[in-house]
Amino acid sequence: MVNFEFQNPTKIIFGKDSEQCLGKEIKKYGKKVLFHYGGGSIKKNGVYDKVKKVLDDENIEYIELGGVKPNPRLSLIYEGIKICRENSIDFILAVGGGSVIDSAKGIAVGVPYEGDVWDFYMGVSVPETKLPVGVVLTIPAAGSESSYSSVVTEEKNKLKRPLDHDVLYPQFAIMNPEFTFSLPAYQTSCGISDIMAHLMERYFTNVKGVGITSRLLEGAMKNIIDNAHLVLDDPHNYIARSEIMWTGSIAHNNLLNTGRIGDWASHMIEHELSAINDVAHGAGLAIVFPAWMKYVYKHNIDLFVQFAVRVWNVEQDFENKERTALAGIERLESFYKSIGLPVRLSEIGIGEEHYQEIASKCRVFHEDDTVGNFVKLTRKDIVEILRLAK
Ligand code: NZQ
Ligand code: ZN
Repeated sequence: MVNFEFQNPTKIIFGKDSEQCLGKEIKKYGKKVLFHYGGGSIKKNGVYDKVKKVLDDENIEYIELGGVKPNPRLSLIYEGIKICRENSIDFILAVGGGSVIDSAKGIAVGVPYEGDVWDFYMGVSVPETKLPVGVVLTIPAAGSESSYSSVVTEEKNKLKRPLDHDVLYPQFAIMNPEFTFSLPAYQTSCGISDIMAHLMERYFTNVKGVGITSRLLEGAMKNIIDNAHLVLDDPHNYIARSEIMWTGSIAHNNLLNTGRIGDWASHMIEHELSAINDVAHGAGLAIVFPAWMKYVYKHNIDLFVQFAVRVWNVEQDFENKERTALAGIERLESFYKSIGLPVRLSEIGIGEEHYQEIASKCRVFHEDDTVGNFVKLTRKDIVEILRLAK
């Protein structure tokens, strides 16, 4: 294991009727709320009315800002910052999924900052403080409800960039699995794919002696696989929805990253797919991840054999490690197909003419212009991975 510090300060309030705690929690931090939400799903499924009732019953003053799009846009964050400043808002309530939460986090760090909030996402400046943020989660996927990240799209240059910083952890997250019953099958599957990806990004590491987190990651992956078809077959299955919801937070609250160094190249490549094509993040990951695996598995074939055997129950071929490793990747790809996700770029209309652009926009991690930690990928490698996903 590598040395680590771990503290996740987000308070989780989980279960049926958990939204009843909203007033009490908000009052710990603020008096005037920006009630931030997406394109209207919460108005159709009753979550908006429930949240509004709690706010009204508790006499909490609020201003609404809806309209967050999936792959949240910088322009709405600017609007939110202006509204907060003009109305002395001191608390932001995000009711939705990763996009709404990330937009809320962007507004929260932008309000006290004198410069352009996009500076933070471009790494030009580092946030020191933010307005407090609370979450009512409606889709288990991004894990943003208890992560230190916000991922935002700048429309003009079609750039999608993550900001990671400890100040971004929300103060609390209300997680009522019933609020996810209304999720359409495709969004449910995209969420499942993102959760799997958060587990796999951490799983594929060069760090040795990480047995505890490897086993926990494998267990979490198996739990997602076991519950995926249960929710797709019965969207009102409370137990399966709960399993997926809680696994989604645990997958990305950094506990499972302790002592490890994750890879994250697939995420960076996918972010640029979403930026140019607006594909849902989870769908993009279902395309990129198997291709990444096919490109890098020889770097540590034993780890890919372990993944195949322990997560996918592949029967180990002791004579031929490669066959076992590839069978695991194949099962992952079949799983994505079985839950209705695309696995090739051609399925979402991204042709070869875009590969170079995606590779050149991809945010690099290292001074040598490479991305990823398990294997450091050059821009040429990224194009090769995109070819495998053709
Ligand atoms: O906008 P509305 O109408 O609410 O509809 C949403 C949206 O269209 C719908 N939805 C959400 N809850 C629903 C519902 N529909 C019916 N019933 C419900 N209960 O689902 C659609 C997708 O919502 P979105 O918030 O975009 O999904 P998700 O949670 O997957 O978030 C994706 C975003 O998070 C970023 C991704 O890049 C992407 O931009 N990520 C954020 C991370 C973080 N902050 O830690 C990490 C992730 O790796 C990821 O990059
Ligand atoms: Zn993700």
